[in-house]
Amino acid sequence: RIFPDSEAASVQVARELATFIRERAAQGRSAVLGLATGSSPTRVYEELVRLHRQEGLSFRNVISFNLDEYYPMAPDSLQSYVRFMHEYLFDHVDIAPGNIHIPDGTIAADQVADFGRHYEEQIRAAGGIDWQLLGIGRTGHIGFNEPGSGPASRTRLITLDHITRTDAASDFYGEENVPRRAITMGVGTILEARHVVLLAWGEGKAAVVKRLVEGEPTDSVPATYLQHHPAVQVVLDEAAAAEL
Ligand code: GLP
Repeated sequence: RIFPDSEAASVQVARELATFIRERAAQGRSAVLGLATGSSPTRVYEELVRLHRQEGLSFRNVISFNLDEYYPMAPDSLQSYVRFMHEYLFDHVDIAPGNIHIPDGTIAADQVADFGRHYEEQIRAAGGIDWQLLGIGRTGHIGFNEPGSGPASRTRLITLDHITRTDAASDFYGEENVPRRAITMGVGTILEARHVVLLAWGEGKAAVVKRLVEGEPTDSVPATYLQHHPAVQVVLDEAAAAEL
């Protein structure tokens, strides 16, 4: 879906997400959301907060699972995804704190494998992810599934690509401060979500969007495995769609 700009696209995605949350609430059911960080979804979150404040959208039935977190990362660090999610969304809506799940960047490295299994188990226990929001990195990553990540990969510790660390450098006041690793849901975890919405804005994403949509599915651009998903939407502004 190509929109004239990211503003119009984000407002529309937020509305559709709000409709889904409300429908589930009306049925007395929870809405299980897979959430992303980065600059792409921020306007969606702002619009959800507005809908909460002005139109009574409640998050009481929402259960959320975030895709990823830098490793190591203290939750109160400026760059942590825990902090990001609270700042953009959770602190402004009525989600139950116990319904929020974000990979833990503080656990010991030898416990990450157990943590990954536990995270996947929590997703299953919640009934699986209904609606997964995604961005895409210039390396073709979804979550932090860098090139080399296969379609069956699960929640685990990964090594960040050089390009990803360059892109994150300004957030960390220099590339040397960007963590070398991260915990991420796997491509396989993401592919199990019932509905996937990937957002990409701006000319900097045009090349990777072309590979995502038109390239062969391959480990070198893990996002291409979304082509196997039965219900995926790629939501773009005109600049990100320019090479299609
Ligand atoms: C980070 C996140 C990804 C995100 C990507 C794109 O690496 N871990 O989940 O999709 O960046 O970020 P942006 O939306 O800022 O372009």
